[in-house]
Amino acid sequence: MSKDGVKNAAPIGIVCKGKNKLGCRLFVGTKTLKNIMETRKYVVNIIFNLINFVKSTIGNLDTEEFTDDENIAILKNAEAYIICDVTDIRKMDLIKDHVTSNGEAYIISSDVVKIVKNNPCAKALNRGVFALLECLTNYTRLDLVILGAKANIKFHMFQMAVH
Ligand SMILES: Cc1cc2nc3c(=O)[nH]c(=O)nc-3n(C[C@H](O)[C@H](O)[C@H](O)COP(=O)(O)O)c2cc1C
Repeated sequence: MSKDGVKNAAPIGIVCKGKNKLGCRLFVGTKTLKNIMETRKYVVNIIFNLINFVKSTIGNLDTEEFTDDENIAILKNAEAYIICDVTDIRKMDLIKDHVTSNGEAYIISSDVVKIVKNNPCAKALNRGVFALLECLTNYTRLDLVILGAKANIKFHMFQMAVH
């Protein structure tokens, strides 16, 4: 949420850094980074609705998709959510990796303030799990395809492994 009270959501990779400690890496240019720098507070909404992922990546969600709670951007369809207070914002060294060349990013460290489980079995989507499944699927096809396609499949497997 911005300092002016505008609610925003985006898919972001979250890492667990210890008991009640979360972190993420945010690229300069995202509203998420700007808002977190302004308010030093955010919510991790754990959702399974892929339409929400699409909409919040290429634009923003409709205001009706957030709860009426003031000063906090909780999603109505969150399986669970985690309210966090930021403890540290640190600029990363310029990144030259597979994600972006010379991308400017900040590491956000936070304390967990509150956890709410709307679904007791809530589980966050994990990109690594999906990447592994895709790699395995490609692996099983390697011997079925012609030579040129084989190189293509190996390239895709490599791409997923480095991500
Ligand atoms: C699965 C997924 C994970 C993402 N993880 C991150 C991330 O960890 N950090 C980041 O800066 N952007 C990440 N992004 C990209 C942002 O979601 C994207 O730039 C988004 O448009 C930012 O929206 P905002 O400007 O409303 O903050 C990710 C996107 C997807 C689809």
